[in-house]
Amino acid sequence: MSTTSSISAATVSIALGERSYPILIGQNLIDQPQTWAGLPKATAAVIVTNDTVGPLYAARLQTALAPHYPQVHVVTLPDGEAYKTWESLNLIFDALLGHGCDRKTVLFALGGGVVGDMTGFAAACYMRGVPFVQVPTTLLAQVDSSVGGKTAINHPLGKNMIGAFYQPVRVVCDLDTLNTLPERELSAGLAEVIKYGPIYDLAFLDWIAANLSALRARDAAVLACAVQRSCEIKAEVVGQDERESGLRAILNFGHTFGHAIEAGLGYGAWLHGEAVGCGMVMAATLSQRLGLLSAEQVAQLKALVAAAGLPVRAPVLDAARNAERYLELMRVDKKAEAGEIKFVLVNGQGQAQVCGAPDALVTEVIAACCAA
Ligand code: NAD
Ligand code: GLY
Repeated sequence: MSTTSSISAATVSIALGERSYPILIGQNLIDQPQTWAGLPKATAAVIVTNDTVGPLYAARLQTALAPHYPQVHVVTLPDGEAYKTWESLNLIFDALLGHGCDRKTVLFALGGGVVGDMTGFAAACYMRGVPFVQVPTTLLAQVDSSVGGKTAINHPLGKNMIGAFYQPVRVVCDLDTLNTLPERELSAGLAEVIKYGPIYDLAFLDWIAANLSALRARDAAVLACAVQRSCEIKAEVVGQDERESGLRAILNFGHTFGHAIEAGLGYGAWLHGEAVGCGMVMAATLSQRLGLLSAEQVAQLKALVAAAGLPVRAPVLDAARNAERYLELMRVDKKAEAGEIKFVLVNGQGQAQVCGAPDALVTEVIAACCAA
């Protein structure tokens, strides 16, 4: 791993031709004037946030943006995955139209992945596209969801099913915002940090294991390294495959099982990162059954996920027909092709592949992971 323990501000670039943008990572970035220099000019900026994050940071962001935009409005959505819906999206459109916002209006997503995904989708749709800036305030959003341009809302039949690829013009990861994050949310973010190890960078996985206590204790320098390396990996992958025609799918390690857990339990019962953490253990177990990983490697990953404060025992989604329910839910995963469920499998050498697996084997894995 090339990053060193330093808390000086860093910039990671994501190379996407004319859609390239910088990811700024550092402390106290919201209040620094240079953070907001050089953004698209407009009459209005609109900060989209929620009723948890807004009271903590919206006024500061509003003050920071005031020198750049004659009007700075704030739209406050209800907090929670359960509100990642058409109704919430419409609240954003209602506010934009109500304020007479034109097609140059710049949106600022201030919050976690839920706010980021919804604001990005609103930006993609409003007047056929307005610029937006990601200001992620959860670890999960700083290391994953704010980067790469996936935007979406949920449908009752499937997670993130309605959305668009639409890149932000800048990502601002102010590490200080993580100080107010609840413990459980920090752990959820660690799931997406851990994810990058088995699929791309085993040295990073070792570094995470060695620094897990410091990460959980919110050591600023160690968090800065984790955010930077995660963003570097994500930028490298997305830079090669923006629209997930191949490589990008590896970023969904743990997500096939994880999305089924989220949908099966009802959105919000388990946090996205918790479902991904448990989903990675399930995907690793499937990798083992297919001869790609050793039992020891699965046990190491499981121990790391548990040590991050994440669940490793899969929930029973249906007492009478549990495996069938998992399979049913996984068939509506976006990676599924013609009803065949696709899994991201890892080989213990920092590489991943996307492939199908026989239902009987997946059924065994579900049973083993629900009982473990
Ligand atoms: P979240 O947005 O629900 O935020 C978690 C909780 O923390 C919320 O209650 C939020 O209000 C609160 N919060 C946020 N920042 C805070 C802060 N600084 N201090 C105190 N509280 C704070 O959840 P998340 O884990 O950030 O994101 C999960 C979402 O991201 C899911 O919907 C998932 O599908 C999506 N996601 C998208 C991508 C992508 O590529 N677009 C990738 C991964 C996940
Ligand atoms: N979080 C998976 C992706 O961005 O592709």
